[in-house]
Amino acid sequence: MPTPKIELSGVSQEFEKPDGTVFHALDNLTIRVDAGRFASLIGPSGCGKSTIFNIIAGLQQPSRGGVIINGRDATGMVGGVGYMLQKDLLFPWRTVLDNIVLGLEVRGVSNQEARAYALPFLHKYGLGGFEHAYPSALSGGMRQRAALLRTLLYDSEVILLDEPFGALDAQTRSRMQEWLLQIWQDFGKTVIFVTHDVEEAVYLSDEIYVMAARPGRVIAHLPVPIERPRPREITLGRTFMRLKEDCLNLLNSFEQHAEAA
Ligand SMILES: Nc1ncnc2c1ncn2[C@@H]1O[C@H](COP(=O)(O)OP(=O)(O)O)[C@@H](O)[C@H]1O
Ligand SMILES: [Mg+2]
Repeated sequence: MPTPKIELSGVSQEFEKPDGTVFHALDNLTIRVDAGRFASLIGPSGCGKSTIFNIIAGLQQPSRGGVIINGRDATGMVGGVGYMLQKDLLFPWRTVLDNIVLGLEVRGVSNQEARAYALPFLHKYGLGGFEHAYPSALSGGMRQRAALLRTLLYDSEVILLDEPFGALDAQTRSRMQEWLLQIWQDFGKTVIFVTHDVEEAVYLSDEIYVMAARPGRVIAHLPVPIERPRPREITLGRTFMRLKEDCLNLLNSFEQHAEAA
């Protein structure tokens, strides 16, 4: 078996509540993603998806277990992955181009050099002509493109995207999904994508981790055996429909358990 690009093994996360009792946010979670794959995490709000990303990004030290990237322990290490936060904002006082080069600048590349590097990507990925605009002049979809491009240009092989399309209308969202698949294929990165939209997860992913809450844990790991490229019509196909239904059934049955408990 090849070494996974990224691996979480036996990760548990406990938080102390204000009343002093312990809250189990994640329980013994194991996730493995091979190089170049697109994996999604789906699960109800509060099941710990963002916490998993914070742990992978080294921003949160897990109570137990660890993170391995490229076969090496990366637990608690910052800077090893590109991370687009759930509410990743562009700085309103920076132009689109200067927002996009932020990740590179953080890595120590000069502003001038970073701009020269980033500009062709802006043109290639649908932001040409907007490089000197300020974020307030952009549509929601364009702002997300800029934020995603910033994350992808940050020089790292693993990219974490936390519900990047959650706030977009359905049409913009589906255009953004196609755009993301294109850019993912061009860059050859390993992506972990968080969404609570089952259809989005199936359409985008090679594999899906389904989670349940209280405590946050993986309840299923499903491959998506649909070839690429994926025209929209595949969403009407039998494999797609069946997978979507499997995911929804899993989510519903565990949700009911949690409510009954
Ligand atoms: N730093 C923290 N301190 C205490 N509780 C937290 C902290 N971070 C997250 N939580 C709790 O852990 C649970 C999982 O949160 P989160 O990872 O944001 O879930 P999701 O992204 O799946 O909606 C939530 O109940 C949240 O309130
Ligand atoms: Mg979240």
